[in-house]
Amino acid sequence: MANKAGANSVLKILEMKKRGEKIAVVTAYDYPTARMADAAGLDMLLVGDSLATVVQGRPTTLGATLDQMIYHAEAVARAAERALVVVDVPFPYCQLGPDEAVRACARILKETEATAVKIEGGASRAETVRAVVAAGIPVVGHCGLVPQSVKALGGYKVQRDWDQLLEDTTAIQEAGAFAVVLECVEREHAAELSKRLTIPTIGIGAGVGCDGQVLVFHDLFNFSEKDPSETPKHARVYRDLGGLIGEGFREYVADVKAERFPGDAESFGAKK
Ligand code: KIV
Repeated sequence: MANKAGANSVLKILEMKKRGEKIAVVTAYDYPTARMADAAGLDMLLVGDSLATVVQGRPTTLGATLDQMIYHAEAVARAAERALVVVDVPFPYCQLGPDEAVRACARILKETEATAVKIEGGASRAETVRAVVAAGIPVVGHCGLVPQSVKALGGYKVQRDWDQLLEDTTAIQEAGAFAVVLECVEREHAAELSKRLTIPTIGIGAGVGCDGQVLVFHDLFNFSEKDPSETPKHARVYRDLGGLIGEGFREYVADVKAERFPGDAESFGAKK
């Protein structure tokens, strides 16, 4: 599917790095959020497999299925007029090797209007990235902390080894990825990688030296029942929607109980 007129293309994202314009990215999982993010000027929307945790309430991202990713991506991509839509390839398609990965990525692009996929992993995933790119599917890499490997690594492991980070990101770039997410990478390392790589780096918990930043929608707006102070350290709460929604719910319950809702205005047949 061709990009919508005026939509960001892979080329436009690469040009942003060349002219030093920072790339703003947020996760999105549904139509109205994607509309608002697109209209507000986000450059890329990521349909992250974080939907397993923030939308479905699971403990890890491993439970997101390909059908679910496609369902959410379809709604997000329909909403996006301008932002480039990227979809996470859920566990375990890329872990199963290039053929399975290409099949899954082809489904994502065929069944949604998304432009690109995101593949977690470094040098060991380069062959898979190369195969997907060769199939004509634009790829964003994802290095540093890789949540899909939580069980293999025995937890969420920050990658502090500079040589490994350089090897991983370089391999992904050489395999044809057009951008790479750096998750929870020390800021000095992320800044140096951003200088050395020709493709844009999109940081999450990786400091201001990256070429762009990505945040999970639910962290950006505290869209949860938690106190904003419990938001991950790398995120900033721009508006406390969780607080506002809780307040609204409590007011609605009180109004129903006290017969303040519905009033005349909300009732059929009421005199004007
Ligand atoms: O799934 C996701 O939301 C992500 C971001 C954390 C980059 O991969």
